[in-house]
Amino acid sequence: MIECILILDFGGQYCHLIARRVREFDVYSEIVSASTTPADIEEYQKKYDVKGLIISGGPQSVYAENAAQFDKGLLELDLGILGLCYGHQLIAHYVGGIVEPGEKKEYGITQAIIDNPAGVLKGLNWEETVWMSHSDNVVKMPEEYEILAHTENTPVAAFRHREKRINGIQWHPEVVHTQHGKEIFENFIHTVCKCTGNWVMEDFIESTVKKIQETIGDKKALIALSGGIDSSAAAILAHKAIGKNLTAVFVDTGLMRKNEPELIDEIFSKGFDLNFKSVNAKDRFFKALEGITNPEDKRKAIGREFIRVFEEEADHVGAQFLIQGTIYPDRIESGTEHAATIKSHHNVGGLPDVLGLEIVEPLEDLYKDEVRVIAKKIGLPNEIVHRHPFPGPGLAIRILGEVTPTLTGIVREADAIVKEEIKEADLEKELWQFFAVILPIKTVGVQGDVRTYRNTIAIRIVQSIDGMTANFARIPYDVLERISTRITNEIPEVNRVVYDITHKPPGTVEWE
Ligand code: XMP
Repeated sequence: MIECILILDFGGQYCHLIARRVREFDVYSEIVSASTTPADIEEYQKKYDVKGLIISGGPQSVYAENAAQFDKGLLELDLGILGLCYGHQLIAHYVGGIVEPGEKKEYGITQAIIDNPAGVLKGLNWEETVWMSHSDNVVKMPEEYEILAHTENTPVAAFRHREKRINGIQWHPEVVHTQHGKEIFENFIHTVCKCTGNWVMEDFIESTVKKIQETIGDKKALIALSGGIDSSAAAILAHKAIGKNLTAVFVDTGLMRKNEPELIDEIFSKGFDLNFKSVNAKDRFFKALEGITNPEDKRKAIGREFIRVFEEEADHVGAQFLIQGTIYPDRIESGTEHAATIKSHHNVGGLPDVLGLEIVEPLEDLYKDEVRVIAKKIGLPNEIVHRHPFPGPGLAIRILGEVTPTLTGIVREADAIVKEEIKEADLEKELWQFFAVILPIKTVGVQGDVRTYRNTIAIRIVQSIDGMTANFARIPYDVLERISTRITNEIPEVNRVVYDITHKPPGTVEWE
């Protein structure tokens, strides 16, 4: 049976990160409601070998009115139990410890003194850098508990029961700023919960396929396939689940990169036995973009057109479900109002729920690198698995000013040259994105002894971990030179190439 550690969700912002840390040790983990009872755990035991329970952090105070609670009976179960932050305080409160409002908030990097490097803290140094985010403090624990660590402001920063497998830690071992967080999870997972690590991605694939089957039954579903890794992986999983009742729709907006529609067609219509439909919608997208120069208006026009195409396709096949390739970070990002005010991100795979279709998101709990592992396992080719991000609105937001088929053709050629040269220089792996932007200005040049007055192309090449911040890449001058020379030689409409040396912030990655 697959080993599993359940995580009680108290609304802490790091809950998902905890699940992810556990899964890194090949132990399946699932986030469950804070109101889970011992009877619910018994139900889980029928499907999984439940080995442990992590009680997550949360924004509350144990003494607040309506403070979130968990079923105390859980502490009686023969499982490894680990309370983190609010979970640590709640356990202390339940077992007769004393939790007091802290005089000083501890937030961010803190030094913890490890009084006894044992149990979940085994192997740690006497002083550790940890990440804290709390105001209440555990100040005392009953006799049956041993104190393992303290900080300047927190007398009980970690504890364990002397006989039972109950542990608490005030800090967040799941965030990268905590030194040796990984070791803490390893101690909990291997030593306290006695997990061997028997969960593999194949199990995720199998259970996801089963879940999709259960949800959709013998009804019909549509997936918006952009050719990006997320929607591609979701399409293949859904296809495994419901076969010919799935139709994967790729919309050729005319705003894709060079040879992209052909590649996607090749992979999905020939490589997989999939109901694949490529909709040629070039004319209607260009028509929808006519006369529009404002970036937000462009994004909205494109979003509207996508919805129309999908409404038509859903009608054609009689679909009741829409499968989306949404992954966990998409959900966090769309949850922040701030991000939305910068640009209304439009994602081909992320159609809004206006189609009257029920949404199914099989990858919603995964991170990009986990999707990559799955994508490889289900046979997606490297071109998809290692594809760099490409925005939903496509080349339209790389053409400053009105989008026309001619300008799209120019920027597409320039983009292809950038890609070829970056590939040739073997720089792809170090870069987040590399592309060309066409500017709405012409400048004077001299080509073949003749005065020219032609378009300008800007090159944007950035490094980033998650797209939220980015650095312009310090590309060797000879690579930039080759890019510039090829663009001006091979694209007759262009006589000038500039390199964008703006970080994000202040500049965004895309120019619009
Ligand atoms: P910005 O330009 O906001 O981009 O710094 C950050 C990352 O997001 C990509 N991007 C988009 N992706 N739909 C998408 O799916 C969009 O509307 C969109 N706009 C930007 C961008 O390419 C970069 O990787």
